[in-house]
Amino acid sequence: MKVKIKNKTENIRAVWMEKNIVKMIDQRKLPFELKFFNAKNYNDVAFAVKNMVVRGAPSIGACAVYGIAQAEAQKKNIKNAAKILKKTRPTAHDLFYAIDYMLKEIKNGNDAKNSAEKYVEKLVNECRAIGVHGGKLIKNNYRILTHCNAGALATVDYGTALAPIRFAHYNKKKIFVWVDETRPRLQGMLTSWELLNENIKHRVISDNAAGYFMRKKEIDMVIVGADRIARNGDFANKIGTYEKAVLAKENSIPFYVAAPISTFDFGLRNGESIKIEERNEDEVLFIKGKRVAPEKAKAFNPAFDVTPSKYVTGYITEKGVLRSEEIKRLKK
Ligand code: MRU
Repeated sequence: MKVKIKNKTENIRAVWMEKNIVKMIDQRKLPFELKFFNAKNYNDVAFAVKNMVVRGAPSIGACAVYGIAQAEAQKKNIKNAAKILKKTRPTAHDLFYAIDYMLKEIKNGNDAKNSAEKYVEKLVNECRAIGVHGGKLIKNNYRILTHCNAGALATVDYGTALAPIRFAHYNKKKIFVWVDETRPRLQGMLTSWELLNENIKHRVISDNAAGYFMRKKEIDMVIVGADRIARNGDFANKIGTYEKAVLAKENSIPFYVAAPISTFDFGLRNGESIKIEERNEDEVLFIKGKRVAPEKAKAFNPAFDVTPSKYVTGYITEKGVLRSEEIKRLKK
């Protein structure tokens, strides 16, 4: 992804591996500081995923493949590394897909580092393809709403929901992005940071403002990412996605989900049984370390919700834009 550092623009990935260290942009420090986190072993990688140093389903998967490759190079117990990494975050399908891929590669006698790099290159290419396919859906002067951060930070490079937006911009279309702030962890600020680095026009809005702008006919299209998509197209994504989808339908606004095929869980018939991560209540009770709720207040903090497929206009994948009935075809 393009990152402006002083007067220069550099190309940086969200996650990579160097001399057996898993390196990543520390997303806890953004948008104010660009710092990097060095994971020296799989426990550090697990810490980074659990504590959202790195976040976004495909980036979590990329971290995990590197974590397993690192464990293999350090002659650690791979099964244990896989177990620890799988326990970090339950909802993102990419995490489990990535770890199972690595276990298979190692079992087949393939070089773990090489397999990890192959996985990440493939992911980056998939996101680029999502950008090419999805970019065609965006017309000149479109105003697009996105929720959370499904950008390069969340996918190593390009993004899923942000990839079509990037490609529309590269193709000189005039576009504008509405960025949901995304309580409680404010991933919208990460999206704003990515868009500023690319000079893409946008405004951050509070989550509950989206309906207001939809009704005023100021949103032409919604694109979001996904953490896990069931066979029938129901999908889990950042909490608040469901209400955006319902509002989009009510206001006749096309609603797209952008995701690589690694996010599809073909073992799931529908979204009912997707495990929803419940995070610490302090993420709701505090903002940037400052308590905003009364001392004795308690909170609930589900990190994701499930949106039924009936609200989705199409799924933007590396294989093209699909309707929910076409998902089964992907399995092959
Ligand atoms: O809790 P997070 O920040 O990891 O949640 C991220 C999302 O919900 C993204 O929309 C999803 O992982 C897709 S990222 C391309």
